[in-house]
Amino acid sequence: MDTKFLLAPSILACDFSDMGGALSLIEKAGGDMVHIDVMDGHFVPEITIGAPVVAALRKKTKLPFDVHLMVSNPEHFIPMFAEAGADYLTFHYEAAVHVHSLIGQIHAAGMKAGISIVPSTPVSFLTEILDMLDLVLVMTVNPGYGGQKMIYSCLEKIRTLRNLREKSGFKYIISVDGGVNGENFNQVLEFGADMIVSGSAFFNGSLGKSVSSRPASPVCGSFSCKNGSGGGKIE
Ligand code: DX5
Ligand code: ZN
Repeated sequence: MDTKFLLAPSILACDFSDMGGALSLIEKAGGDMVHIDVMDGHFVPEITIGAPVVAALRKKTKLPFDVHLMVSNPEHFIPMFAEAGADYLTFHYEAAVHVHSLIGQIHAAGMKAGISIVPSTPVSFLTEILDMLDLVLVMTVNPGYGGQKMIYSCLEKIRTLRNLREKSGFKYIISVDGGVNGENFNQVLEFGADMIVSGSAFFNGSLGKSVSSRPASPVCGSFSCKNGSGGGKIE
């Protein structure tokens, strides 16, 4: 297989007492973005990382930050994550009413805008806003925890998003999050994903080993990452 893809390791699975070390590891493995899972104890049960932590991490790496908001009322969080240094800010379709407005607010704050959908939400709900998006995050687990098993029936959404993008000239990155590991990532790529998010398999399991020796390849430029670096391929 010779597929280029973007890799966004999720620091949810790292040692929280050594996040700086986790960033170095991601850089060494050729990660393209750092995926940061923000949970509020309301939209999902856990509480994880807030804007002050993101601001502290911002000083430690030049890699783009892909911030995944799993929060209710995402509109409250836009200014603080812009200030903290997020490059991509992704919120959940299910957590917002004024989705169109929020995308505009994220852009106005100087960030790329992403939408995430949980396994029960179809791609068709996004029809009216696909042209505005920089990233669509397909959740392949129910959000809230790392280390869950992939729900394979969600993968078809990747193909749908790919076809829509080809047909209509949309620009969004198709990112996949949840249960991706060394055994199934080729399948995820075959469905047409551009970016793989990986937490436990990157830090503790099979994916880290699979990708650690991959050569760097600058595909990220076409997706407008701020530092223009990144990309990779597995043969
Ligand atoms: C889950 C998070 C994921 C999580 C993925 O709600 O959105 O980003 O870190 O973890 P793994 O790769 O372990 O499924
Ligand atoms: Zn995530």
